[in-house]
Amino acid sequence: MDKAKRKAIIAGNWKMNKTPSEAKALLEEIKPLVSDADCEVIACVPYVDLAAAVETVKGSNVKIGAENVHWEEKGAFTGEISTGMLKEIGVEYVVLGHSERRQYFGETDETVNKRTKAALAAGLKPIVCVGELLWERECDITEEVIARQIKLDLWDVTEDELKNVVIAYEPVWAIGTGKTATADQAEEVCAFIRAQLAKLYNQAAADAVTIQYGGSMNDGNADELLGKTNVDGGLIGGASLVAEKFAAIVKAASK
Ligand code: PGA
Repeated sequence: MDKAKRKAIIAGNWKMNKTPSEAKALLEEIKPLVSDADCEVIACVPYVDLAAAVETVKGSNVKIGAENVHWEEKGAFTGEISTGMLKEIGVEYVVLGHSERRQYFGETDETVNKRTKAALAAGLKPIVCVGELLWERECDITEEVIARQIKLDLWDVTEDELKNVVIAYEPVWAIGTGKTATADQAEEVCAFIRAQLAKLYNQAAADAVTIQYGGSMNDGNADELLGKTNVDGGLIGGASLVAEKFAAIVKAASK
């Protein structure tokens, strides 16, 4: 399938930034700047900002995502948030398996898979993050790492469910470090991810999946990265907190 037929998606990952009132202000700034976007525009924001964020973007083309979700519907899971809670306030997307969750909060491929299955069952669209550590790249096992993550994170996800899955390739060494993967490195791994999806499902299903690159993507390098055949969008950390920078990336994806 031609890249032009896949949905380009630019998603901001705000991480642990912005209070509810700050979130509202930033979204009010972003909205007019992206109103003519020819791609999907998402802001993934902290849990306590979600209700204000959904309210603020009503009537605009900006969608709201959460940064994680638990796999159980309810129960004794102090501090966790369920899919039902997100759905009720109008959240559409959810980032899962971000490397910061894997690194600092004990997230594993098994729990990423449980969250992915639960999100899909609830009608949320997961943005599933995969990516290798620097030393894994240096040891030349990037492909093994990515193949394993894709297989385990999407275990038992049906071909029909895959239509609602977005994959974000985020080399861990490029996140928040200012070190972007080169466009060729990003393309190489995004193409590899698509090949893995083709193996696990089939070529048509793989061709339809939006694969984002993430890791120090900004207004200066977005054009080149998004120009690559298998890079269909971006998951943006730092640059998503500055309206003009985020809007410039959205513009690059709209070409
Ligand atoms: P960054 O973060 O753009 O600040 O590198 C990307 C991410 O963690 O999703």
